[in-house]
Amino acid sequence: AEAADYGIHPALLDAALQPLGLGLLLAEPGEGMTRRPFAWSGVTLHAQGAVAGRVRIALAGEDAVSVTVADPAGRPVASVDVLTLRQVAAKQVAEARSDSLFRVEWVPVAVSRSSAPAGRWALIGSGNGSGSGSSSGHGDVDVHEDLGSLAAAAGPVPELVFAPFPDAAESTDITDSAIASDAVRRATHRALDLVQAWLADERFAASRLVILAGQGLAGGPVWGLVRSAQMENPGRFVLIETGGSGDAEPDGELLAAAAVGDEPQLRLDGGEFCAPRLVRVPWPDAAGPGFGAEGTVLLTGSSGGLARLLARHLVAERGVRNLLLASRSGAAAEGMPKLVAELTGLGAAVEVAACDVADREALAGLLAAVPAERPLSAVVHTAAVLDDGVVEALTPERIDRVLRPKVDGALNLHALTEHLDLSAFVLFSSLSGTLGGAGLANYSAANAFL
Ligand SMILES: NC(=O)c1ccc[n+]([C@@H]2O[C@H](COP(=O)([O-])OP(=O)(O)OC[C@H]3O[C@@H](n4cnc5c(N)ncnc54)[C@H](OP(=O)(O)O)[C@@H]3O)[C@@H](O)[C@H]2O)c1
Repeated sequence: AEAADYGIHPALLDAALQPLGLGLLLAEPGEGMTRRPFAWSGVTLHAQGAVAGRVRIALAGEDAVSVTVADPAGRPVASVDVLTLRQVAAKQVAEARSDSLFRVEWVPVAVSRSSAPAGRWALIGSGNGSGSGSSSGHGDVDVHEDLGSLAAAAGPVPELVFAPFPDAAESTDITDSAIASDAVRRATHRALDLVQAWLADERFAASRLVILAGQGLAGGPVWGLVRSAQMENPGRFVLIETGGSGDAEPDGELLAAAAVGDEPQLRLDGGEFCAPRLVRVPWPDAAGPGFGAEGTVLLTGSSGGLARLLARHLVAERGVRNLLLASRSGAAAEGMPKLVAELTGLGAAVEVAACDVADREALAGLLAAVPAERPLSAVVHTAAVLDDGVVEALTPERIDRVLRPKVDGALNLHALTEHLDLSAFVLFSSLSGTLGGAGLANYSAANAFL
């Protein structure tokens, strides 16, 4: 990379500190130990963009040094008054990386039937019409067509209001990307509508909305959207997935007991509730999938920050020799000629295309143009769009804008490449899909889909 892009190029700074490892200035670290920079003070950058340096390192205390970097003509580049080092076990450094992988695990949580609140609760959108009574064996349930009719009914709104979400449970064949994308949009819009109506009406302010939704194709984004709504409005929403084996007829009292607890997300399966937890996953020993040195790797969202890093990584570390970089702005994206020159310099053949991956025809055209002698060997999908706002401020259009590259893009890529023998099909999601995030309801929905 160009040194001019940095205050001081990381490789130059790293090289400047390498002499510390020679053991000439500081005593050898203890058995099995190594030193790592711990605290920097008095750091000054005197000149930007140096490509070479002369380095002076002097003792500045126990396990501390001062560092002065000058350019080859002796002009000052950078100085550090005190760099304090600390000894750490070499094993700890080697293992640190293996702490960074997580996945979601559903762990059993205790729910006691006796915690179900006394009094009635409401069920909306069941399609059973309005009225009082027990429509689903729940006992004390008032059934309402929608939130509007619940609000208009006499008396206070019950502590718990259940909103079954049948759309989200439907599984759709993802090969027909238009149908699948439509199902996702409908469910996500409906969830937005429900959440906004719940937050907008003061009469619901003391109650909790319990959204009963599956986590299938369209359910994932519903959960993603509601997770962000939960972050923005703690205590106002609970997500419960029902319909696991043996739960054909959800038990209302048990659901109510679970919904008043502290777990915002639950799954009911065989009469047992589980809640999601992030758990560490061991770092895999193997290097992961190959990307096919002979073939072409398609990298979408290639004008983005992570895609640029990834392109370098694929070429420099993973042996990729043919890259197809696609984003809507294509070669016109800022810095693209420089990236291409860099990748070419690393030995790759690089094609840059202006292509909207959410446009199935355009994507099909792009894939059809991949040369037969270098067939598509892997897909890495990083395309994304942000349109942040609190859930009350979102609109169906703002949802669609963010779903487009993630949902339509991924569905199109899947449908158009599933017949190929790809060595990797990689989708970039985000932790906000798993955890939700304030101001990110549309983005959480899109990432939860992936
Ligand atoms: N950066 C982070 O910290 C972070 C954290 C978690 C997850 N992620 C995920 O990692 C991926 C990359 O993140 P990033 O921060 O590098 O993103 P970014 O800088 O915003 O880049 C995303 C790129 O996607 C392209 N794009 C948008 N819509 C497209 C479409 N329909 N077809 C083709 N290209 C499209 C955009 O370029 P054009 O406008 O030219 O199309 C944009 O440059 C994203 O999926 C993001 O959700 C990022």
